[in-house]
Parts: sequence; structure tokens; C-alpha cells
Amino acid sequence: MRATIYEGNKTFSVVNKEIAIPKEGEVRIKVAYSGVCGTDVHIYHGMMDKRVNIPETIGHEMSGEVDAFGEGVTGYEIGDKVVVRPLDDRGIKPSDKEFNHICENLKFIGIDSPGSMQQYWNVPSFTLHKLKAETDLKLAALIEPLSVAVHDVRLSELKPGETVVVLGGGPIGLLVAIVAKDIGANVIISEVNPVRINKAKELGFDTVSPLDSDLVQYVKNKTEERLADVVFEVAGVQPALDIMTEVAGIRGRIVMVAIHGEPKPVNLFKFFWKELKLIGARVYEKEDYEKSIQLITNNQLPFEDLITDVQPLTNIQQVFENIDKNPDGLKVLMDCQQ
Ligand SMILES: NC(=O)c1ccc[n+]([C@@H]2O[C@H](COP(=O)([O-])OP(=O)(O)OC[C@H]3O[C@@H](n4cnc5c(N)ncnc54)[C@H](O)[C@@H]3O)[C@@H](O)[C@H]2O)c1
Ligand SMILES: [Zn+2]
Repeated sequence: MRATIYEGNKTFSVVNKEIAIPKEGEVRIKVAYSGVCGTDVHIYHGMMDKRVNIPETIGHEMSGEVDAFGEGVTGYEIGDKVVVRPLDDRGIKPSDKEFNHICENLKFIGIDSPGSMQQYWNVPSFTLHKLKAETDLKLAALIEPLSVAVHDVRLSELKPGETVVVLGGGPIGLLVAIVAKDIGANVIISEVNPVRINKAKELGFDTVSPLDSDLVQYVKNKTEERLADVVFEVAGVQPALDIMTEVAGIRGRIVMVAIHGEPKPVNLFKFFWKELKLIGARVYEKEDYEKSIQLITNNQLPFEDLITDVQPLTNIQQVFENIDKNPDGLKVLMDCQQ
């Protein structure tokens, strides 16, 4: 089979290797598509070299079919369409209070252990979610990032009719916007990249560039001065941290989706003044995957528009170089059988 390997130093190789026999409790998946995530790009940039066991296959946003199973695996048949929830929580302790997805010893499959950017992938069977036979496997590769969005919106306790501001219209921000709109919220997206602004507008979203207009005033005008009920910080930059407390109205909830690797200044006075709430959100739980699978299966929302490119797995080096050169695309999928 073919596998790609991150070698460090912005380099991937494509190798031939033996198809591995699944161990006890494991399932072998014939990987259909594997999406490129922002985290994979961080890995490519060498920012996670201490964590990734180089040389290593990466990737975690995938879809595929069951190809074989090891001893003790039940409930699956060869050919079943599946996705993996790439969280290995086998190190969970009582102090984690049963929060499997954020347990202290959580291992993220595809970062801490081999990932999906290969033709066949062996994973523990407890990570699998089964899909309906008619599910489109390209769309199914979006289930992982969509589950992030579903989790974020669930933790925000968003209600129909509320006003949402999404700071950052990248893949995750757009998925948050789509899920929030589906619940019945009025969604405003703030984005600075003109191509992504157009994309968000094409998807039917009220979209503003904070570089061209006064976002706070804009949201005031849209809400009879009430400002946002919920703000999702999905940009990951200081200007978004500066504006999130301004654009949130009284008792507004701010969901921190972006990963800030360093401590950064935030206007805490506003938390006192407006009784704001800050909600942390990390990956997803089982129920978020189930909701996300349902949304993809129903296929009523514009998920397909987020897939801006599909490339053969063997082009992996080019794919990452292109993403680096051009930040306009949204989700690039790797066809893992090509
Ligand atoms: N919480 C989690 O478990 C989780 C999971 C996945 C991703 N993330 C994080 O979510 C964030 C978004 O992910 P992504 O893949 O969509 O990233 P991305 O970089 O593609 O998107 C961020 C967007 O923010 C825009 N932006 C930059 N400055 C801005 C500003 N001042 N105002 C408004 N928009 C601005 C950028 O143009 C870009 O389109 C990242 O920080 C990522 O690490 C978190
Ligand atoms: Zn991801």
C-alpha cells in the first residue's frame, strides 16, 4: 500500500509498505479521503515536532470503509462506511471526571500516533462511528471538523433568534456559522481575507471585514444596539480578542474556539461591566459526532462548497506547499486511494 510520511523540515515522502494486519481490538480502514486541517499545516511548519513521532504519517479528518478487523471486534462488517473520532482516551483517570475528550492523558490519533494520510489505516475499534451506506465519503471527511463546530455551538447554549458573531471565516468559522444558522440564529461573520469574505457571502452569510468597517457599530445597527448574544472566536489573533468583548452584548457568551498557544491580553473589565461569560471548547464528544454525522447524512446544508480541492495522496508535498502559498482555499481533501 501507499503511505505518506512527514519527515520533518517541511517534507513529506510517499512510500510503499506492507498492509498491516489489525491487532486485537483494531479495525483496518481503507481510507477514502483525508482532509488537511490547520493542525496538519502546523505540523508541516515544524511547530509540533516535539509531539509528532517523526518520521510519521499524519492526518485525522477522514472517511473510509472497514477492510478487516482484529480479534474481539464486533458490530462491523467489511465494506461498512466509517469515520474515526481520533481521540484515544485509554489513559483516562478518576480526576478527569469522565470528560474523555479533555482527559489529561488524551492522545490525539494522527498527531500523537499514526494518522489517516495513507491507503490503509489501523485504529482501535472504539474510535469508529458507522455511516449509512448512502453517505458521500467526500462530505464524510468533513465530519471531524463539523463536530468541532457542533460542540462549540452546543456549549454556547445558542437559542433560535439569537445574534451570533463569528470572528474568522476559515473552515471552522464557516462550519460554526452553518451550524448556528441551522439552529435559527442570525449570524454575522467577521473576516479579513477578501476571497474568504466572498465565499462567506456566497454561502448566504452577512459578512463584514473589520478592516473596512466598524464591526461593533455594524452589529449594533443589526440588533437595535443589543450587540451579540454569542461570539465565537475562531480567528486566533489579537485583534479578534480585542473585539470579542466589544461586540458581545449584556450577558453575552464568548466561545474560545481558537487555540492560543501563548497568554494574551483580554479586556476583563468588560466581563464585569456586561456580565460576560467565556466558554472554553476543545474538540468534541461522542454526541457531537452523532449530530455531525446526521447533518452530513441529511446533506441539507452547503457543506460541499467548503471543499475547494481534491488531490491524489501522492501529491501531498505539493498540496502543503500550495496551502502555504495561498490561504484562500478552504478544505483540501486528499484522495487516499490515488
Ligand atoms: N477548539 C478546538 O478543538 C479546535 C479545533 C480545530 C481548530 N481549532 C482552532 O480554530 C481556529 C480556526 O481554525 P481554521 O482551520 O478555520 O483556521 P484558519 O486560519 O483557516 O481561519 C482563521 C480565519 O480568521 C481570519 N482572520 C484573521 N484575522 C482576523 C480578524 N482580525 N478578524 C476576523 N477574521 C480574521 C483569517 O483570514 C482566516 O480566514 C484555529 O485557531 C484552530 O487552531 C480549534
Ligand atoms: Zn482537525
